[in-house]
Amino acid sequence: MTILVTGSAGFIGANFVLDWLAHHDEAVVSLDKLTYAGNLANLQSLEADARHTFVQGDIGDQALVAELLEKYQPRAVVNFAAESHVDRSIHGPEDFIQTNIVGTFRMLEAVRAYWKGLSGEAAGTFRFLHVSTDEVYGSLSPTDPAFTETNQYEPNSPYSASKAASDHLVRAYHHTYGLPVLTTNCSNNYGPYHFPEKLIPLVIHNALAGKDLPIYGDGQQIRDWLYVKDHCSAIRRVLEGGKLGETYNVGGWNEKANLDVVHTLCDILDQEQPRADGLSYREQLTFVKDRPGHDRRYAIDASKLERELGWKPAETFETGIRKTVRWYLDNQEWVNNITSGNYRDWVSKQYQ
Ligand code: NAD
Ligand code: DAU
Repeated sequence: MTILVTGSAGFIGANFVLDWLAHHDEAVVSLDKLTYAGNLANLQSLEADARHTFVQGDIGDQALVAELLEKYQPRAVVNFAAESHVDRSIHGPEDFIQTNIVGTFRMLEAVRAYWKGLSGEAAGTFRFLHVSTDEVYGSLSPTDPAFTETNQYEPNSPYSASKAASDHLVRAYHHTYGLPVLTTNCSNNYGPYHFPEKLIPLVIHNALAGKDLPIYGDGQQIRDWLYVKDHCSAIRRVLEGGKLGETYNVGGWNEKANLDVVHTLCDILDQEQPRADGLSYREQLTFVKDRPGHDRRYAIDASKLERELGWKPAETFETGIRKTVRWYLDNQEWVNNITSGNYRDWVSKQYQ
């Protein structure tokens, strides 16, 4: 048996493949375009592992996806491939439309043709799991209840609008063609291999490099944080037991204001790797111009997943964030490789 995983060289995709092969002997075929966010170093530990095959390519290349499906006959496709950074979607939405909407559509077409050609048990057990985000639901006020699966979609950024469109396509392929799909909508992940354009790895990297820690606006925007390995275990659980055509919210019950997250990171770094001058990393905090259209609050109600499939996160924010800081301190070479080159162009464009 084999599964096809797209976006496998990115942050969550790589964690998923590594975790999958730590839990199963079932082979994985990885498909990734290797955009700026894709990094083969994330999968380096699998280099000599015969259970893993990596293919560089685009989910929007329908012929390639069809060829891979024919060749490897996967029993499931898990789709992580996407453009994922909100700020980049504000600077240039085009890639988001191409990959998240057109790419998902082309992949759905290839998968539909493959699934139609399956017979008997293989057709009945096949699954297409689409990995999505809580951002499709829009922004909450401080007193609103957390998002449930029945919340209306109200995406506010080009990124979340493109993810919402892809969710709708996946839903439509189930209702119209009967494609056996599952969708997960998860909150903010953090952990190993997180690209340092996102808040948590950016702050750790900048703190250690003696640079400013940029807080957008007043820093009171709220996100729900989930340790990436808990997201991976939720996806495995949904793939195994999820009801066809259903969506599942995934979250950590960890609502935090951005400023509190950054303070926590500074405090852990103060203990783990104190600054040479004895001052706190909090000294480096800087308030900068807000993100246009910045969503104020996200909160996920993950009780459906807990109730129906018995999933619970293993990490609290306190345990997960310590592990994360430790991982970055122990993997400075990984960070240094990423933060040379094109990364610098992005930082000067975004934080000039
Ligand atoms: P990421 O940007 O770290 O990785 C995305 C990966 O997809 C990269 O390896 C990239 O090379 C690849 N990719 C991009 N375009 C592609 C294409 N056209 N064809 C093939 N591969 C392509 O993103 P991530 O944070 O790992 O997110 C993975 C998925 O999870 C995304 O769909 C994202 O929307 C979703 N998600 C992310 C979070 C989060 O907090 N990071 C939370 C909820 C959902
Ligand atoms: O909610 C799930 C989403 O979480 C995923 O779908 C996205 O792919 C993922 O990138 C993430 O989106 P966010 O925009 O919430 O993540 P980011 O790390 O970019 O920002 C987190 C919060 O921190 C957000 O309110 C913006 C703020 N921020 C971010 C950066 C990069 C800052 O204040 N300063 C910064 O420099």
